[in-house]
Amino acid sequence: MNIITVKDKSFKPFISEENLQEAVQKVANKINIDYQGKEPLFIGVLNGSFMFFSDLLKSINLSSTVSFVKLSSYQGIETTGQVNELIGLDESIEGKDVVVVEDIVDTGNTLEKIYGMLAEKKAKSIKIATLLYKPEAYKKSFSIDYVGVEIPNAFVLGYGLDYDGLGRNLSSIYVLND
Ligand code: IMP
Repeated sequence: MNIITVKDKSFKPFISEENLQEAVQKVANKINIDYQGKEPLFIGVLNGSFMFFSDLLKSINLSSTVSFVKLSSYQGIETTGQVNELIGLDESIEGKDVVVVEDIVDTGNTLEKIYGMLAEKKAKSIKIATLLYKPEAYKKSFSIDYVGVEIPNAFVLGYGLDYDGLGRNLSSIYVLND
């Protein structure tokens, strides 16, 4: 892994493909144990979660279903503070054990929006799985049930995460080189 340039910024290697896969396995193993005998519905939060979602689900050995919502809050390397719902939930979650799958929890605004979207839809349970978590940036109090890797409050890129739409296809994670 080398330093890369995406648009006008330089990024350095941060989490290798191997370490990412270990983190994904760790989360999958916990979910497989916690949901034994259940049939969870995994809801992926697009766009950022698509790679994590795909790798995670390949390691889930439970009978399960999937769905997606699409939310957006970032512009460049900063959050706008406002989370827009671009595609909503198009199915009933009543009586279901829901696992929301996020790429990264930063301020927690997206999480709050998701809870708002799912509230009163009578899910049996709702848990959150995220690949990355920035504890120093988190401003909410919702519990985050499954965390792949805790990271410092820095801007990261790759494995689904973007800078202005670019870099999502990278198979490992890079951090802003400042
Ligand atoms: P939150 O709403 O502030 O928790 O941010 C969640 C969303 O912001 C994530 O789903 C990402 O799409 C985006 N985001 C947060 N931090 C980063 C980052 O370091 N790189 C790329 N996108 C990020």
